[in-house]
Amino acid sequence: MKQKISVAVLGATGLVGQRLVQMLDAHPWFEVRALAASDNSVGKRYADAVKWHLGSDIPAYARAMIVQPCEPTFDAPLVFSALPSDVAGEIETRFADAGAVVSSNASNHRMDADVPLVIPEVNADHLELVRAQRAKRKGAIICNPNCSTIHLTLALKPLADAFGLRRVVVTTMQALSGAGYPGVASLDILDNVIPFIGGEEKKLESEPLKILGKIQGESTANAEFKISAACNRVATSDGHLETASVELIEKASLDTVRRALAEFRAEPQALQLPTAPAHPIIVRDEADRPQPRLDRDAERGMATIVGRLRACSVLDYKFVLLGHNTIRGAAGGTLLNAELLYAKELLK
Ligand SMILES: NC(=O)c1ccc[n+]([C@@H]2O[C@H](COP(=O)([O-])OP(=O)(O)OC[C@H]3O[C@@H](n4cnc5c(N)ncnc54)[C@H](OP(=O)(O)O)[C@@H]3O)[C@@H](O)[C@H]2O)c1
Repeated sequence: MKQKISVAVLGATGLVGQRLVQMLDAHPWFEVRALAASDNSVGKRYADAVKWHLGSDIPAYARAMIVQPCEPTFDAPLVFSALPSDVAGEIETRFADAGAVVSSNASNHRMDADVPLVIPEVNADHLELVRAQRAKRKGAIICNPNCSTIHLTLALKPLADAFGLRRVVVTTMQALSGAGYPGVASLDILDNVIPFIGGEEKKLESEPLKILGKIQGESTANAEFKISAACNRVATSDGHLETASVELIEKASLDTVRRALAEFRAEPQALQLPTAPAHPIIVRDEADRPQPRLDRDAERGMATIVGRLRACSVLDYKFVLLGHNTIRGAAGGTLLNAELLYAKELLK
């Protein structure tokens, strides 16, 4: 067996950081050597610093680790960042300049020309941009898209490949954990829906175009279709639900569209990456699925679940999609990105 790669988690005490700590427990390729967070947590045992929100216990390996500052002083060639965007940009750059490969959840570097914005099933080839970055700095940054973008783009990918996309209209119903902890005040969201999430619609309208775009030299050229997004915060705990209508370039039957979605597989499945779902897209035919509580944990939270596929009287087809926001939409996404880098020998 190959020697495990030492990894660090920045923002390890937050909602996404906790998921990473959980998902890295007994990982076959990666071993957590450092957990880092803000000054509020530095110097404490992880178990004392974290307000643990997940169902299972804090993994034994992490409990007594002393939380460190987010400075590139530890010996970990691979660093997962679950930092908030007001601090992530500079800190991630410092780690990459010091030689680490940073797999980030934060939005700061997503649209940088030489930073791959990756969903392993959709644009694994964009990871080649890591080589261009490494020619300029010692390490590299790769980014995870926004949590709603990941699930929307996974569902769009087979349609873009088979039929081409012209227009997409999407409305999200996003879970509370998407806002981090403590997130939205209970009195703002109980018995309520908030029809605004700052910056979210812009991300959902732009990130899929970069992800579905093509590598062009040392950057990417955007895909050429239009997206209109409306984002809402709802009172579910985990799992973003989205309704989407799509206009295709090549007209297709409902059955062909369903098959393209249900049969979709890609490189992570062929490579059998440890965190990859066997079925990245699950199509459900019941009239009332997917639902957040019932479906978000399918494939250990790593799948996008599509349902209610039917004709649209304005565009061509419409459907509902659902995905776990802190697993595939965040921690699991950065982990799968790192596994793909490892499998492609781009971590060296
Ligand atoms: N939640 C989601 O569903 C989701 C999905 C996709 C992407 N993201 C992105 O992932 C990132 C983390 O989100 P989250 O929901 O996990 O946030 P969170 O629960 O608020 O956690 C933030 C983490 O960052 C640390 N931190 C805060 N300020 C810091 C500073 N100045 N220096 C060093 N560490 C600092 C916190 O440490 P302390 O505990 O010590 O304060 C904590 O570990 C964000 O960029 C977010 O946009 C989140």
